[in-house]
Amino acid sequence: MGKKKAGKKKLPKLGFLYLDYVLRFFDHSNFRGWPDKIETVTYHWKNDKKRFIKEVRKKKIDVLIGNIPATAYETFREIARELPHVRFIPSMDTQFSNKSKENVTRFAWKYKLPIPQTHIFYDRAKGYEFFKNTKYPKIVKRSYGPSNYGGYFVHKVDSADEAIELFETKKYHPIYTQDFVPMEADIRVMLIGHKPVCAFWRRPPEGDWLTNTSQGGSMDYQDVPKNVLDLAVSVSKAANAEYWACDVAYGKDGKVRILECATAFAAFPYIRDWIGQYIMWSLSNGKFRKPHMPMFNWEELGKIDSSLLRTMRHIAFGKYTPSYDGAYFDDKKKAYGDGEYYIHELDAKYPMMDIVPRDYEEWPSEKWNFQDRFPLKSVKTMKVENLENSRIEIPTGDEASQELNISREELEELFASIKGLGAKKIKKIFEIFSDIAIVDVLEQQPSAFTCIKGIKDKTVEKIVEKWIDFKEKKD
Ligand SMILES: Nc1ncnc2c1ncn2[C@@H]1O[C@H](COP(=O)(O)OP(=O)(O)O)[C@@H](O)[C@H]1O
Ligand SMILES: [Mg+2]
Repeated sequence: MGKKKAGKKKLPKLGFLYLDYVLRFFDHSNFRGWPDKIETVTYHWKNDKKRFIKEVRKKKIDVLIGNIPATAYETFREIARELPHVRFIPSMDTQFSNKSKENVTRFAWKYKLPIPQTHIFYDRAKGYEFFKNTKYPKIVKRSYGPSNYGGYFVHKVDSADEAIELFETKKYHPIYTQDFVPMEADIRVMLIGHKPVCAFWRRPPEGDWLTNTSQGGSMDYQDVPKNVLDLAVSVSKAANAEYWACDVAYGKDGKVRILECATAFAAFPYIRDWIGQYIMWSLSNGKFRKPHMPMFNWEELGKIDSSLLRTMRHIAFGKYTPSYDGAYFDDKKKAYGDGEYYIHELDAKYPMMDIVPRDYEEWPSEKWNFQDRFPLKSVKTMKVENLENSRIEIPTGDEASQELNISREELEELFASIKGLGAKKIKKIFEIFSDIAIVDVLEQQPSAFTCIKGIKDKTVEKIVEKWIDFKEKKD
């Protein structure tokens, strides 16, 4: 390999892409050492496209860095088209999967990546026909919208009647349904430049099939199987992702299938530092050093209490060199796949690769935005829960909620300050949504609180107002 010259080439001008009310995945601290000013451009939701584009042009930004939440995805595809010389990291095509479960599925179908058998219907009659002729149990999910809290948007159904009843009462659109896959656990893998940098099991609580940790499942960093990491790497490559998270179902049949994948996910600050360093390396033509994270570092870091891990920043590792520290590395082998390997051997098998942006649109909205092309017209005539009425345009996305330091007491105080929320209802909120999930619900789908008896849309609006106040004070 030839030496990379530091080169006199000017560095590109970077900008952070922020959106009002969306937690920020990156900030300047993740890009420590970048010598130039990093600009900030904030999208203000309502009709802000033109102004946003103008600001990016005025600031002469070459690279815009940040995650787009699902609700803004289509707008940003338009914005990206009007800024052809700006590189978005991750690209809009890479972020295609962020928008909906349907998009994850279409992405997996295109690249022949394994997922549970999935059916998507925009035509309800056809969907119902399918339900009458298929096998059970099935899983039904809301395709677009926030994550599943308290089993709220992912359902297991055991008969056609049950499935149809569900769609008669919820306006989930499209109909999105999967074969039920009996699984040991699901596993989250995070990757940077297609190299796994963190992975953990999420085991469901006893007797439960849901595995979100926010529902009391456990996390475990040990011995994530080879076929899971290999699948996550191929998914990241298919998405041409600078950074990526993939939830893999580890089936009782030993097979692996993708459940979810996205660029927006919750990650400890040190992982976001790694991503920042990686991007700096990638954009600087060798001026910044490529970060090195040894394989299975997560098995060791995962032993650190998460409250401490959350405060740890800029974790760096030395590289294996045969002449010097070989002796240390050498006596430690790891059982992996069907063999045993030194960590540096595994590092060679899972290289961190540079991402070359594609020069075409892979998922143009004219073709792939089925949601807006085929809306559910009959929705008003259906028995529909009032779930979405109060939906203000607060975006979804799994952005690191741990960034926001809020204690249980502060949350309780916030709720208690709202007229109409008594101690009983507050207790119920904490029962249904754990502390961590509450922040996500506040951010992504406050209307989910209406699942609690006596909490109406008006109350939800008040909760959201208080929440926004709270965040502003924290800032
Ligand atoms: N096809 C399936 N078969 C069995 N369990 C599933 C299936 N799809 C999802 N699950 C379970 O439901 C959980 C939530 O589903 P997921 O697709 O991750 O949606 P979300 O996290 O947005 O709610 C998963 O972590 C998994 O435990
Ligand atoms: Mg999930």
